[in-house]
Amino acid sequence: MRPKVLVTGGTGYIGSHTILDLLENGCDAVCVDSCINSDTSCLKAIKELTGTEIPFYKADLCDLKATEQVFRDHPDIAGIIHFAALKAVGESVEKPLLYFRNNLESLINILDLSLRYGVKAFIFSSSCTVYGDVTHSPVDENTPWQEAASPYGRTKQIGEQIITDTLRHTDMKSILLRYFNPAGAHPSGKMGESPINPPQNLVPVITETAIGKRKSMTVFGTDYPTRDGSCIRDYIHVCDLAHAHTLALKYIFEGRQDEQTGIFNLGIGNGLTVLEIIEAFQRVTGVSLSYILGDRRPGDVMAIYSDHTKAGRLLGWEPKMTIDDIVSTAWTWEKNRSAAGKS
Ligand code: NAD
Ligand code: WQD
Repeated sequence: MRPKVLVTGGTGYIGSHTILDLLENGCDAVCVDSCINSDTSCLKAIKELTGTEIPFYKADLCDLKATEQVFRDHPDIAGIIHFAALKAVGESVEKPLLYFRNNLESLINILDLSLRYGVKAFIFSSSCTVYGDVTHSPVDENTPWQEAASPYGRTKQIGEQIITDTLRHTDMKSILLRYFNPAGAHPSGKMGESPINPPQNLVPVITETAIGKRKSMTVFGTDYPTRDGSCIRDYIHVCDLAHAHTLALKYIFEGRQDEQTGIFNLGIGNGLTVLEIIEAFQRVTGVSLSYILGDRRPGDVMAIYSDHTKAGRLLGWEPKMTIDDIVSTAWTWEKNRSAAGKS
């Protein structure tokens, strides 16, 4: 029997790619999203790609009653993947209470309902941001946390603690997945990042500049003690990331997880500089990019990349896509979006 998985934040960037991966790997999916940072166009793409129309609920998870309706309609939910959250670091500094309320109240509600309705597996979207301003890379899951650099980062640290404390002495198991820098789009060109808020992350900024939505872009800092002076990050293709969620659920469903709460880093395990990403984009697409070398962005970590050997060893997860795949799929998606008149 195909296990039924509730995907919160499922019309968002990583959630939509994960729904596709779940459907392609023997699971059924139900999606809930408030659409505060997405629209429902991915549901059409998912139908085109898989032939499946999945149940969708437009609901804010902070609304307990509306969220409970999903569980009433689907009492057979076997697992939850909780993506729903606000994620703009800068906005979280300006509006910390918005972030604490949205990201933590929604988590508390979905955990409460998961326990009341007997769900057995809970996967949480965490982030490498929990490690804060690290001094060494690669970081593994035992690397101690530093002070969170933003209220957004704090919601991920607190979120992990809420889950760990709540599940102790219950029969629900959880996995906290710490993503590094997700990027790229589905190779079909039908699905990718399509946020309501203007994207701030490097790869969409590059593609939006290349297509002409932005006049130019800035490389934030070229005086870091790295090989070319710009920051180092670990860019992971969204489809590789999506597949890790399916593997994490199966790890719990198949009874292979002993710990109550497992933690896994998800990155490619190799750091690239901002200038290397720009070089890869220009080389792979043949498009030249208008950019300027600017000052450091406050709050940026000089370098962070992952040790993901635990995910390889226990989940059997290995990222397959390269940086060339990331920039080429992101570029195809940007062109398709623009042709369809999307901002
Ligand atoms: P996204 O904004 O595309 O998706 C999040 C979705 O959650 C959106 O569709 C939004 O409408 C929905 N949402 C937000 N608050 C909600 C609420 N209260 N009720 C219902 N729906 C709500 O972002 P994403 O990049 O797909 O990120 C998914 C998760 O991964 C988030 O938890 C994010 O913090 C985490 N994460 C993202 C990155 C990244 O760089 N993209 C990195 C690390 C962790
Ligand atoms: C990557 C690099 C920038 C834009 C953020 C969150 C983190 C996680 C992933 C959610 C940095 C540089 C960027 C630009 C640039 N998200 N850059 N010009 O900051 O590593 O991480 O997303 O959990 O929590 O903080 O990602 O894509 O913003 O930046 O030079 O216009 O690109 O300085 O070195 P970041 P990013």
